[in-house]
Amino acid sequence: MARDKVVLAYSGGLDTSVAVKWINETYGLDVVAYTCDLGQGQDIEAIRQKALRTGAVEAVAEDARNLFVDFFVQPSLMAGALYEGKYPLATALGRPLIAQLMVRVAREQNAVAVAHGCTGKGNDQVRFDVTFQTLAPDLKIIAPVREWKWTRTQELEYAAQHNIEVEATKKSIFSTDQNLWGRSIEAGILEDPWVEPPPETFQWTVSPQSAPDEPEEVEIVFERGRPVGLNGRPLDGVELIETLNKIAGRHGVGRIDHIENRLVGIKSREIYEAPAAVVLHEAHRELEFLTLSKESHRFKTLVSQHYADLIYNGLWFSALHQDLMAFVVSNQQYVSGTARVKLYKGHAMIVGRKSEHSLYRHELATYEEGDQYDSSAAMGFIKIHGLAQTTQAKHQMLKGSAAARPELPSIIPPPPPSR
Ligand code: ARG
Repeated sequence: MARDKVVLAYSGGLDTSVAVKWINETYGLDVVAYTCDLGQGQDIEAIRQKALRTGAVEAVAEDARNLFVDFFVQPSLMAGALYEGKYPLATALGRPLIAQLMVRVAREQNAVAVAHGCTGKGNDQVRFDVTFQTLAPDLKIIAPVREWKWTRTQELEYAAQHNIEVEATKKSIFSTDQNLWGRSIEAGILEDPWVEPPPETFQWTVSPQSAPDEPEEVEIVFERGRPVGLNGRPLDGVELIETLNKIAGRHGVGRIDHIENRLVGIKSREIYEAPAAVVLHEAHRELEFLTLSKESHRFKTLVSQHYADLIYNGLWFSALHQDLMAFVVSNQQYVSGTARVKLYKGHAMIVGRKSEHSLYRHELATYEEGDQYDSSAAMGFIKIHGLAQTTQAKHQMLKGSAAARPELPSIIPPPPPSR
């Protein structure tokens, strides 16, 4: 009788390769390996073949880049989602999609379980598990690395005993994860937050000081908050991001050094390389300044923060997310136009923007000919605007005659005496 199956998120690395055999032995399950291309720059067919050589009964590999960009990356950009104001969420956005696609495969294969290679210390286990529990509560979740708690040496021993291929190339000194929205790099020497990341941390960006002396300008076209064109060419989402990663990376743009608050209670130091994400967030934000009303913009920034937390915390498939997205889609309906961003030695600077829906009206803003702003209305406005404060000063803070209170009132307490 055929054994029950488990669908394992398979990266081709040591952990998940060892996991194939370990799950066979420990749980008596056949492993279906699942690998998808999110733009991490790996040959997924080669990984699929390796899974089969490693003992998987079946191996599925698919290109999910379009799904990733259309349904995860672009919505997060529209929402302005930067975790703690810094991290564009590449890894965090990838997890719910991988988990969702694994559930689909699990159904097709009649599997009884799903498995991933996350440790018990990070956010990724949470994102995988919560998504599995939400979309397929009947499937058992197996997390070998979290369960076995082996050292790397023990893992290598197990691999040797079971003839599991271990890449000859020496293991990276860092722990990394990547997809087209960014690279995440942690551990090793980076665990000391005082230490500057050494050059080998980075693969997508040159160091700002060795970037070209000539700045380069990019023009990005947005349509309802989604980027749809680059430098005068309409591009599909995947191509646009992949192209922009190269352009901005060669100017040293996109390095982020973040002491972040993990969901699991610890602070960790992570380095990110996200050239396209940094440029697109900057361009998008600036187009919003042009096209959103002040109040819409104020409210949107609150939503952005909630939205980023929700993604980071693995709650992608929640009703709150649906509600927030409904707001974002509506909020972005006029965020169409073009932003010009100058790339220079690690910086991405907005230098121009335009939109057919611009709320910047020259006839209102100008100090020159053609001014249509009614300055005479300003005095009445100022009286009403300040009324509450002038009333309070008169009847509380400055009560009594000015002669009786000659000193000016102070809001700020004096600084402590210096030693
Ligand atoms: N800290 C990031 C997050 O929680 C990235 C996690 C994966 N990082 C890694 N270097 N493997 O989304």
